[in-house]
Amino acid sequence: MFITSVRLDHIKDESYIRTLPAVRHLEVLDGLRLHHPVTFFVGDNGAGKSTLVEAIAIAAGFPGTGGPIREVLPTSAVPTESALSRWITLRGRELPLRGYFLRAETHYDTVSAFDNKQWADPAESRHLMSHGESVLSVLGDHVDGAGLYIFDEPESGLSIVRQMALVAEIQQAVQRGGQFIIATHSPIMLAVPDATIVEITEDGMVETVYDEAEAVVATREFLEDPEGTLKYILE
Ligand SMILES: Nc1ncnc2c1ncn2[C@@H]1O[C@H](COP(=O)(O)OP(=O)(O)OP(=O)(O)O)[C@@H](O)[C@H]1O
Ligand SMILES: [Mg+2]
Repeated sequence: MFITSVRLDHIKDESYIRTLPAVRHLEVLDGLRLHHPVTFFVGDNGAGKSTLVEAIAIAAGFPGTGGPIREVLPTSAVPTESALSRWITLRGRELPLRGYFLRAETHYDTVSAFDNKQWADPAESRHLMSHGESVLSVLGDHVDGAGLYIFDEPESGLSIVRQMALVAEIQQAVQRGGQFIIATHSPIMLAVPDATIVEITEDGMVETVYDEAEAVVATREFLEDPEGTLKYILE
């Protein structure tokens, strides 16, 4: 494993990032230990998952807009980086040469940058692919064994069956020495065997197990009784 702990120093500025649940809880932890090659961050919208995985990615040497490790892509994406990476310390062994930071939010711009860089033939552009196809194509090119992979909502654009295929690919890459840090809402992605699931709520940042993760519990309840669940929500 390349990253074995994520520590957050006391943040010395007064920006909004201090108020995010992910940041508040990490600040009081004596480092979040990553003890399995796959770590998931789950939690409600706005919990700070993207802010946290982005900061970890930047601290590890990825471009903030997403892309391969140690690569600067000339994207047109407006930089939206928070200042959080400044306060992050990563522990582990030397970071790999291989790795990819996938951000659902900037995937399209990153793909544009690749087009400019890699293809003379516009017929091969990933813009001619559907959203899900281009995500799988990028991951197919960049996820290969012993690297560091940081994904923010990789399920975005993927069919349920393709998500299952991605889970299997992640499992294979882990067997070849890969490490994954993933923010997700998908109960399917969370099914990677033995993964650590860190749930972020207003009350804390704690490890949970698959069957107790909110995304899994809520999906199960819904699928068992869609009509009843909707009625309950409307009331
Ligand atoms: N410049 C900013 N000023 C104030 N608040 C901001 C700024 N940028 C982001 N935020 C807030 O930070 C919060 C955390 O955002 P973040 O994208 O990390 O959440 P998330 O857990 O990834 O949510 P989601 O599940 O919806 O992707 C959001 O509520 C957002 O409005
Ligand atoms: Mg997010």
